[in-house]
Amino acid sequence: METRRITISDIAQRKGQDPLVAITAYDYLTAKIVDSIVDIVLVGDSLGMVVQGHTDTLPVTLDHMVYHTTNVARALSRAHLVADMPFLTYQSDTPTAVRSAGRLLAEGRAQAVKLEGGTAMASTISKLVDVGIPVMGHIGLTPQSVNAMGGFRVQGRTAKARHSILEDAMAVEDAGAYSIVLEGIPTELAQEITQRLTIPTIGIGAGSSCDGQILVMPDMLGLNHDFKPKFVKHFADLQTTITNAVTHYAQEVTSRAFPAAEHTFYAKADPAKTGPVEVPRLDN
Ligand code: KIV
Repeated sequence: METRRITISDIAQRKGQDPLVAITAYDYLTAKIVDSIVDIVLVGDSLGMVVQGHTDTLPVTLDHMVYHTTNVARALSRAHLVADMPFLTYQSDTPTAVRSAGRLLAEGRAQAVKLEGGTAMASTISKLVDVGIPVMGHIGLTPQSVNAMGGFRVQGRTAKARHSILEDAMAVEDAGAYSIVLEGIPTELAQEITQRLTIPTIGIGAGSSCDGQILVMPDMLGLNHDFKPKFVKHFADLQTTITNAVTHYAQEVTSRAFPAAEHTFYAKADPAKTGPVEVPRLDN
């Protein structure tokens, strides 16, 4: 198992090799768990939905992203860390984009940023790359354009839309991005883009031909039974696990079964033991 930090060149070299494994994270503890397992950790602006409880990602601010990115960064020693640029922090003009992306690297300690958009974002991507900020592109279903798309809908189903997404993919690569997320597009289109591009494609709802896959961690852990779109697989059922654990805890608190003697401090001797009381983390 690789123990040094995974860089953009490592990611680029995985084109056409073993699929890249990517996942989102938003906090220190879960990032620490996945650090040695996945190649890429994305602090996604999906945090607006799965952490903050909004119906879309638009309310997420740059301060939110910097805060969550620093928490995740402290946990990682191996996985490559990418931070999402939130809505309106890069679309208006290039100097704003450079300042926003710069904060995600300088304060958040991300190794790269991700931004949504193809042809329209090419000059911004190119400027970021020129000033030393690696960029992961994101095309197809771009959640920050939820209002323009009329909902979270699969993109690229008509010949015209397919052509436009292909052009987006090539514009992102030509602008200097080191990888690209393909979200919510037909598998045939994802396959064509993956074959045409020299940078790795990372799919979500884009079929199995991509050079890697990404899922939103709370989705794949089954934390929310109310959200199960077709592209998500529940690899665990944490909603049920947490429900059962907290119900059990509530029962033990109300019945006074918890805390038991082994969870309790005593002024003198522990009645449950003959020897001295061992208190590993607290002094009294
Ligand atoms: O915000 C996010 O989590 C993302 C992934 C779904 C790719 O953009």
